[in-house]
Amino acid sequence: MNLPLRIAVLGSGTGSNFAAILDAIHARTLRAEIVLALTDEPTSTFLTLAQNDHLPTAVIDCGPHPLRTTDASQQAIHDHLLAARPDVIVLAGFMRILKDPTLTTFADRILNVHPSLLPQFKGRHAVRDALASGQTTTGCTVHLVIPEIDAGRVLAQASVPILPTDTEATLHARIKQTEHTLLPQVLSTWPH
Ligand code: GAR
Repeated sequence: MNLPLRIAVLGSGTGSNFAAILDAIHARTLRAEIVLALTDEPTSTFLTLAQNDHLPTAVIDCGPHPLRTTDASQQAIHDHLLAARPDVIVLAGFMRILKDPTLTTFADRILNVHPSLLPQFKGRHAVRDALASGQTTTGCTVHLVIPEIDAGRVLAQASVPILPTDTEATLHARIKQTEHTLLPQVLSTWPH
């Protein structure tokens, strides 16, 4: 029998996708173990979730600017990941751009969940941009991470309707519900 999938998760915020992964592991629909929960936000719910489950954690100071991480922080992320020996790395609401050396060392083993039907609405404001577009459908995507932002191979996608009454918050909440099914599904059939 195969060993459980070793998953490292990187997150910055509320950690609802991380919670969905943990729920799937606890429910045994996903045979996996979390070998690292890494965050850039020491006060995040993401970190609290990991601590409550007594999981290995790392907090990395990535610097003040969300889009400009220091080289030292990228090296620290890499070193923590190397030590954790993950089979797969999941960016679950990690709001920093992951760069080398991690992208090269773990090529084709890093996936990201993004709140749009890529290639539509790349970037940090995907939900806001979908709402502003006037379209009636958006969704979420699980894709491989490559140096170009939100441009790696798509592994799975699911649609979510945009309702006339939606705000960015209500739409994002519905997209997240869909992510919570899609992401554990992708992991349960890893590798792709
Ligand atoms: C999710 O909707 C995820 O798709 C998005 O951040 C949210 C994290 O929520 N990621 C991005 O926008 C990445 N560009 P969570 O912390 O509750 O899982």
